[in-house]
Parts: sequence; structure tokens; C-alpha cells
Amino acid sequence: MYRILDVLQQAGDFVSGQEIGNQLSVSRAAVWKGIEKLRQEGYEIEAITNKGYRLIHPETMYNQRELEKGRKAQRMGKTVHFFQETDSTNNRIRELALAGAKEGTLAVAELQTQGRGRRGKPWQSPVGTGVWLSVLLRPNIVPAQASVLTLLGGLAVCEVLQNMTQLQPQIKWPNDIYVGNKKAVGILTEMDCELTEVHFVVMGIGINVNTKEFPEDLQDIATSLYLESGQTYPRKKIVQNIMESLERYYDAFLAAGSFEPFLEQYRKNCMTLGKEVVVYGKEPFVATALDITQEGELLVKRADTGKKEVVYAGEVSIRGVMK
Ligand code: BTN
Repeated sequence: MYRILDVLQQAGDFVSGQEIGNQLSVSRAAVWKGIEKLRQEGYEIEAITNKGYRLIHPETMYNQRELEKGRKAQRMGKTVHFFQETDSTNNRIRELALAGAKEGTLAVAELQTQGRGRRGKPWQSPVGTGVWLSVLLRPNIVPAQASVLTLLGGLAVCEVLQNMTQLQPQIKWPNDIYVGNKKAVGILTEMDCELTEVHFVVMGIGINVNTKEFPEDLQDIATSLYLESGQTYPRKKIVQNIMESLERYYDAFLAAGSFEPFLEQYRKNCMTLGKEVVVYGKEPFVATALDITQEGELLVKRADTGKKEVVYAGEVSIRGVMK
């Protein structure tokens, strides 16, 4: 059936069932069956009597084959598991990891029924508009270094969105990506480890790409690339570019063994620095965000005591910017 797709893609216009059949040495009935199967996979194929079949919007195709085909990265996204519907791609990658899947294995969903964010919050993952992906990492690092991976994920996504759009996405430490004052991207990194050894890491990335409208409770805090730019973007390209960018950052991090080489770029892209923030821990406190440390933590100056403190994993909100 993919041979039919190749014929349609190459033609770029209508091709009759007869002609496709001739080219592939199959019957017209077989062509029709193949077309139906392609449609079930999400390919939009127009059929007009006396003209034949035509592939519509080939650039928007979003499935396993398309994602694997135009891949630029070596390992990240080499194997793609595509789900029309799943609870959470992080769950799928975790299962695949436990079954021995290779680093770089990628899960992508068209719809997540139980997409989750950090701290047990739900992550809205409707059909057709967003990128919901998880990628498997097997870094040879100690668990304490793993939070840096999340920062690298933020850098990779930020770079891709800066290159693909006219927007100015910025990272809210550690790894949310905002456009303007609203969140467009969230990253949930989950780890399976022992005290001294990381078994594997699942990096889950959610991007509101072509979302035209959010439910009322999210309208003030969430945005999409479409809402900010008025343009739609091919999700396939976004996924492939992120895999390429993430692989580059990840390999450079493993080679360097520290976050130091990325600090300057991270600081430049980080909207949190210089701002007044609220740090939520056991006792929430107000502080000014001063810098990012070599380990990727946030250095702040407390408003109450005037003392400097390093913030590790605590949730930080920027005053005046919705969480
Ligand atoms: C957050 O901002 O709190 C993190 C959101 C992470 C959402 C992504 S979508 C793909 C992957 N699967 C999930 O269930 N969550 C992550």
C-alpha cells in the first residue's frame, strides 16, 4: 500500500486507479483497497471520477512511516511507535524501556487520554493539533545529574521553535516554554534508577502546535504556536527537528560531562532570570532569580532574609506571569 502512496507523492496530482495499477502491476480493486487502508492511517486522499486519486496536504502527514522517513537524527527517533490513541506516551516508552528498547526509541500519539504534567497535573492532549511525544534515554550518568537532561530538552525545543517560527519562545526555568506570557510547551522527565545508577530516562514533551482554542480554564495560561503566529506548522517537521536538536545537545552533554558548555545559551533563553519569583517548597518564599548554576539549578536571593539560595526541583512561578 505504501507503493501506492509513493506513486501519489511523486505525481503530486491526480493519478487514475488504472495508471497506479499499471505502474505497480496490481488490479484496480487492489489499488482501491490500498487507498482505503492509507486513509485509515490518516492520509488524506481525494478521489474524483474520471480523474483518479490525489494526495492532499502531504506535508501534514503524521504517522510512523512519515516520522521515520525524513529523520535527520542518527539515534533519536530512529524507531517510532505511533499511537492513534494512548493514555500517555511516557507510559509506552517506560514499557518499551523495560522490554529492552534502544536509546532514542520514540513514542508519538495523535491523542493522549491521560496525558500528564509535573506534580500529577493533567496535560490536555487533544487529537490533531499538538505534538505529544516521549523519547527513551539511557545515559551513563548518576541520578543527581539527570535534572540537567530536562534543561537540555528545554534548550532543544526552544532552538527548534525559534528556527521554525517567527516567535520568540523563552524557557521558564527549568523547562517550560512560554511564548509571550503563556505556556506553549511542557516537559515531563521521568527516571528509573537506583541510588547510584540511572537505568533509563523518559523525556516526555508536549507542544501546543496548531491548537485554535483552549478550554476556558486554560485560556489565560496556555497558548499555541498557531494562536501566537496565525500560522499552522507541520508536526512531523517539529518532531524530527527536535530529535535532531536533542541528539546534538545530549551527545555534547555526555561528552562534556557537565552543563557548563550550555550555560550561556540557557541564560540567554531563560525568561526567569532577573525576575521576582515565588518558590514553592515546604514554605513558599519570594525571591529574585539571579542566575543558573553550573549544575543547572536556579540561584535566587530571598526577599525576606536577603540571603542567596540554590533552588533544585521546587516549582517556581514568575510573579506577574501565569504558571
Ligand atoms: C508539564 O508542563 O507539567 C509537563 C507536560 C508534559 C506533557 C507531555 S505530552 C507527552 C508526554 N506524555 C505525557 O503524559 N506527558 C508528556
